[in-house]
Formats: sequence, C-alpha cells, structure tokens
Amino acid sequence: MTDLRSAIEAVMPSVRTDLERLVRIPSVAFDGFDHSHVARSAELVAQLLRDAGMPDVRIVTAKGESGQDGQPAVIAHKPPPPGAPTVLLYAHHDVQPAGNPQDWDQDDPFTPVERNGRLYGRGCADDKAGIMAHIAALRAYGDDLPVGVTVFVEGEEEFGSDSLEALLTENRELLAADIIVIADSVNWGIGQPSLTTSLRGIVNVYVEIATLNQAVHSGMFGGAVPDALTALCRLLATLHDDEGDVAVDGLVRTNASPIEMEPQRLRSESGMLDGVEFIGTGRLVERLWTKPTATVLGIDAPGARESANALQAVARAKVSFRLAPGDDHESAAKAIESHLRTHVPWGAKLTVTTDHGGNPSVIDATGPRYDAARAAFADAWDGVAPIDTGLGGAIPFISTFQEMFPAAAILVTGVEDPDSRAHGPNESLHLAEFARVCHAEALLLRNAAKLNDSTR
Ligand code: BES
Ligand code: MN
Repeated sequence: MTDLRSAIEAVMPSVRTDLERLVRIPSVAFDGFDHSHVARSAELVAQLLRDAGMPDVRIVTAKGESGQDGQPAVIAHKPPPPGAPTVLLYAHHDVQPAGNPQDWDQDDPFTPVERNGRLYGRGCADDKAGIMAHIAALRAYGDDLPVGVTVFVEGEEEFGSDSLEALLTENRELLAADIIVIADSVNWGIGQPSLTTSLRGIVNVYVEIATLNQAVHSGMFGGAVPDALTALCRLLATLHDDEGDVAVDGLVRTNASPIEMEPQRLRSESGMLDGVEFIGTGRLVERLWTKPTATVLGIDAPGARESANALQAVARAKVSFRLAPGDDHESAAKAIESHLRTHVPWGAKLTVTTDHGGNPSVIDATGPRYDAARAAFADAWDGVAPIDTGLGGAIPFISTFQEMFPAAAILVTGVEDPDSRAHGPNESLHLAEFARVCHAEALLLRNAAKLNDSTR
C-alpha cells in the first residue's frame, strides 16, 4: 500500500493550480448570466477527469421541469476491481453570482488571490474545492483505484437543480453506487471535521401584491386608498411572531443533535452588529438546522432615492423559506400560500408563484460504511474524530438521490470552514484544511475497498 499522505502531498500543487483554473471561469447558472461559462467549466471538469484516468467521461444535460434544457453536468465512471464497491463522488461546478465586485477585497472575484493561508475567490470553496477534492483522491491513486468510482459534477445546484431529477433518471444505471460522497458542506471548525447528517430543504416564493391600476399621488389619495408596497410590508410582517419564530402554520420543526453553538461564535462568524439580537426560540442549532426560516431576499419596488410621492400600484417580494428535516417542499409551499392568502391586508390582490423547491434530508449515519468514513476522517485529522452536524443550507440532490438509491450510504462532507463566506463577498478556502479534506477522501476510498459484501 502506498503512503496516501505523501501521495496527497505530491498532488496538492497541481490540485491548487487546477482549482484556480476552475475559479477563473464564472460559471453562474442563474437566468440572465452568460451560460457559455458553465459550458466551459463542464469541459474543464471533464478534461480533468479524463486526465485523472477516468475511462468514461460524459457531459450530459436533461430537460428541467420547466421544459428547458438544464445546464451541463459531468459524469465519469470507472468500474470497480472485482468484488470492490463503487463510490459516487458528487460536487457542483456552478457558483453563486459574485455580487458587487466593490464589496470584495480583490479586484476580480473570479481571479483567485491567496492571503494568510486562504484562497479567495467566488467558488474557491463552494464548490470547486469539492470537485478538486475528488480529483485529488483520484490523482493520489493513479491507475490503482481500489474501488469503482463514479464522479457526478452538477452544473446548476445553486440555481435549484431544476433538471436534476431527469438527469438522475436518465443516467440511473451509471450512477448506482454503494457509497456516495457529497463534498459540498462545511466542517465544524478548523481541526474539527464533521459529517453532515441533516439538511434543511428550501422553497422560494414570489409574493406579488396589487392594489391600484396605476400609481397615483400619495397626498391626494393616501389615507383612504391602500398602496401595494405598504400592503406587502404588512403581509411580510405576518411571517414571524413577536419572538422571531416563523408564524406559518403547517411547517415542520424538529430537534437537533445535542451539539451546542456558542452565541458569541455565531455573532462573530455571521458579523452581527453589536446590540442586534438573535431571532427565534430554542437552542441555536435548532434555529439554524431544524426549524423553518422565512427571509425576504429582495423586493421589486422603486428605489428609496428615486421614488416619487406616489402610492405604488404593484409590489413584489422574493421570500425564501428554509424547511426543517422531515418537511416536504410541496406541502410546505401549500402551507405558505394559504398563510399568505389568509393574511393579505385590505383586500389587496395577491399572486403567489413558487420556484422549484428542494426537500430536506436526514441521514441515518450508522453502520460499517459510516464507521469506515469516520475512521478515514479521524486519520486525516490526526486522531480527531468527526462529529455529526446539521446544515441549515440545502443540497436538494441528496433527498432525490436517497429516494432513487435507498440502500446507498450518503456521506456529506465539508470543504468549507465557518469562515469560508460562501455566497457572500470574499469567499475563501482554508488551504491547509483543504489538504486534509483531500487526504480524508483518499483514505475513505481505501477504507471503503476493505468493506466486504456483508459489511456494506
Ligand atoms: N454548498 C451549499 C450548501 C451549504 C450551505 C454548505 C451552507 C455549507 C453551508 C450549497 O451549494 C447551497 O448553497 N445550496 C443552495 C441550494 C438552493 C439553491 C436550492 C442553498 O442552500 O441556498
Ligand atoms: Mn455548494
């Protein structure tokens, strides 16, 4: 057996270079962005997988529920040596939009920059580091992979994975695996790895309010005639109770693992201003992982500076609901719509449109395959065993995959650390910790190979 630690050390420089190549491609799958970059990043991922020795590499697309072609995913496959299991390695090559470049400490969010042991740039962590962790493990083994490997790198995770179900169905046989590694979560801290065992779901809702057939003078009509923007604000205010808990009937809430989140830690990691209070009730990890949220993400209305003295006729908000493990995005969407219909003030006209949602998931992380994974993590972190954590974010792929392959063990692993600031400005990857992530994944494949039929 070759020494995996030194094999990983040997490949890390090239892994770093190729991570930077991926980050330079602004692969945003959102509507309104240039999707040729997503196509280019799929090409590069495919090339990296071919060069890492995967014999069968395909770029695949499928039609989403909207009927439109989804963004390209990459599937690579190498069959197992006789008797060995197959491990599916998942990541996504699309990224969140970078937002305003002025908010970043570097000129261009898509030109990676190293500072203080971290690599800064959009996608450095979420989730191009996940792709490169998989490639690092493949490179460490070269032609001697001890297990069968299928790599699945999705191209529209951040945009809601509209075509994912179709992709999974159309490639079902190719994707079947005994173990699946989803390198798209966050570790509890530097030096403390985690296995993510519960994830929230998501449903995004557009709430449109109309009260008038056009905007009119606010002095002439205000006081008797309702405006749409104020009506919208009042409606949005009903989503929480006075304590800051979500007030929508019919959404699931459950209990989280016994782990505690220090209030001070949450304050500083999120950048809460002094004097600002937490919202909601219950233990902090429950508020973050196992209770629903309602967040107003954006509003279509005149900007404050440009707005006229007028009653607005129409106003629209995008509201994001995070759903607790055990909930279901379709029934949650119904509960939310019924709350909105019941609470809309002043007889205003309400239109509710729901984006493609994602289900939460709970993973029963027990049994030999999880033990094998935990041992790999403890080895890579010099004896520090991983802890089970929840995730407030969503990876809708997981519940879809669980439904399709109920017998597979699902390992949701971290590439981010609490300071990675994914989705915001100055996203970054902790480079030393990333080397451990890569080492852990290589060890995991070795441990998986040792499982025999009866233990998997
Ligand atoms: N990598 C994240 C999941 C995540 C969230 C990891 C928080 C660590 C901390 C994933 O790419 C993500 O952001 N998912 C979206 C899914 C949505 C668009 C359906 C999310 O949660 O917003
Ligand atoms: Mn991600």
